Amino acid sequence: MTEKLLEVDNIVLRFGGVTAINEVGFHIEPGELFAIIGPNGAGKTSIFNAISQVYRPQEGDIRWHGQSIMGTRPDSVARLGIARTFQNIELFAQMTVIENLLTGRHIQMKKSWLAGALYWGPGGAKQEELENRRRVEDIIDFLEIEQWRKHPVALLPYGFQKRVELGRALAMDPQLLLLDEPVAGMNLEETEDMARFILDVQRELGIAIILVEHDMGLVMDIADRVLAVDFGSPIAIGTPTEVQANPDVIGAYLGVEHSVGLDNA
Ligand SMILES: Nc1ncnc2c1ncn2[C@@H]1O[C@H](COP(=O)(O)OP(=O)(O)O)[C@@H](O)[C@H]1O
Ligand SMILES: [Mg+2]
Repeated sequence: MTEKLLEVDNIVLRFGGVTAINEVGFHIEPGELFAIIGPNGAGKTSIFNAISQVYRPQEGDIRWHGQSIMGTRPDSVARLGIARTFQNIELFAQMTVIENLLTGRHIQMKKSWLAGALYWGPGGAKQEELENRRRVEDIIDFLEIEQWRKHPVALLPYGFQKRVELGRALAMDPQLLLLDEPVAGMNLEETEDMARFILDVQRELGIAIILVEHDMGLVMDIADRVLAVDFGSPIAIGTPTEVQANPDVIGAYLGVEHSVGLDNA
């Protein structure tokens, strides 16, 4: 039996009268590329906010390596190995690429409160900071952003800013990466580059990914499995081909009447 990395167990998340997530359940295998698709307002970002524990679902459970993470602080969730990127870029615009990636490392830093006392000691914070810088340079090579290393992020073209955000998430050494619309607003060339890096992250680094996308095209090309949601509810789960052919999914995208029910579970 393979161990499940993440289990999302029938979660419900309401904001006042709005049910953003309505009994959504799925699981993620180690190293898998899982996609969540659905129209705008379907609840995709809310699912990420529930996993990150930015918002706490009123019902259901979320387990990481079999342990419930309900009630865990968002920064602690990140330290467990669940990193994310945002629908709208959230970087430190005036800081350089290297500095932004280092903030990802510092989330993992254990010795920071002792930094003053132990800075020069054997295995102290200085050693750790050197290691952090080495890891950041590796990620910069991996994402092919060498030429921007020392530039403030604000000066980078949009596609590269999105790549830096991916880099910062990678700097946290995640086992699971949550990518919220990583190609939104990109041109075709930027989209193809990002798709390649997402696949490299999965295949070369062995990191599991949940990819949230509004647009079905990218998902159909690269995802192992797909969950389709509409109005907060799951409407289909399966391979990209199965989900693409599902009448409720087609209905959701064309905006025609459809019944809500989990057909392909
Ligand atoms: N913090 C919030 N407060 C109130 N309503 C919210 C909040 N976040 C999301 N919602 C509502 O939940 C629903 C799902 O939103 P969201 O998860 O952002 O959808 P998607 O990412 O699929 O476009 C929407 O109706 C949205 O207005
Ligand atoms: Mg969203």
